[in-house]
Amino acid sequence: MSAKEKNKNPAKTAVKEEKQIEAKLIPIYIMGKRYEVPEGLTIMKAMEYAGYILIRGCGCRGGTCGACGTVYRKPGDYKLQVALACQKTVEPDMYIAQIPFFPANRALYDFVGLTAAPEEVFKLYPELFRCVACNSCTKACPQGIEVMDAISALKQGNIAEAAQLSFDCIQCGLCTSRCFGELAQYHMFQLARRIYGARIVPRAEHLAEMVKAVNEGKYDRFLDELKQVKEDELKKLYQEREAEPMAAGEDWKPKDTRYL
Ligand code: SF4
Ligand code: SF4
Ligand code: FES
Repeated sequence: MSAKEKNKNPAKTAVKEEKQIEAKLIPIYIMGKRYEVPEGLTIMKAMEYAGYILIRGCGCRGGTCGACGTVYRKPGDYKLQVALACQKTVEPDMYIAQIPFFPANRALYDFVGLTAAPEEVFKLYPELFRCVACNSCTKACPQGIEVMDAISALKQGNIAEAAQLSFDCIQCGLCTSRCFGELAQYHMFQLARRIYGARIVPRAEHLAEMVKAVNEGKYDRFLDELKQVKEDELKKLYQEREAEPMAAGEDWKPKDTRYL
């Protein structure tokens, strides 16, 4: 067997790769202290590798909870970078600090009393008009949200636009940490999305019809039948149910329409 063929042996290749992975350590700085961590880890995993036990600044580990906001700077780079620690992989010589929480003004309100009037938002968050349109917030957003545009929409009284632009906000607070005007953008956006969902988007009539049918007892008999079924049979029924296809159109209906 030639040397080339020997290298095709998967077990040997795996061992070789494993050794390479073990050997490849890169230096990073966490809160100013130097550590050597395996290349390819996320910042979060690298911190854990370095000995940190994360009970704050760590949540979903999937880029959706906003708990792991992080800032870092590379040597020689004037620019402070932002990232989610659970998503960003480490790079050599990164100087890293986590910002799991950033103190920001959050208005108190009784949502029931709110309409969709822009003046209500202005009253709750008058600092909205301290925005100097510097766009630092947009540059700081790990979700790629046009933060300044959403703030501008709010200033113009366009709550729907602000809600839609900020739809992917995960409340990490990094925009707020960089704001010259001391705005708490993410709290404002949350209010906008609440108003949008409750007061602006038209009510879903089919949902109201379904709730009415449930309240009128249309499904009581079916539920009673299910309650009599043994656990194994119930699991089988669940596994064999007709699931809605991922790409189902608006008019999709199951073959068995008894429960509609
Ligand atoms: S808008 Fe602000 S709080 Fe929301 S994800 Fe972007 S940086 Fe984080
Ligand atoms: S960082 Fe603050 S002041 Fe600058 S554009 Fe964003 S909201 Fe306005
Ligand atoms: S841990 Fe939830 S976004 Fe990173």
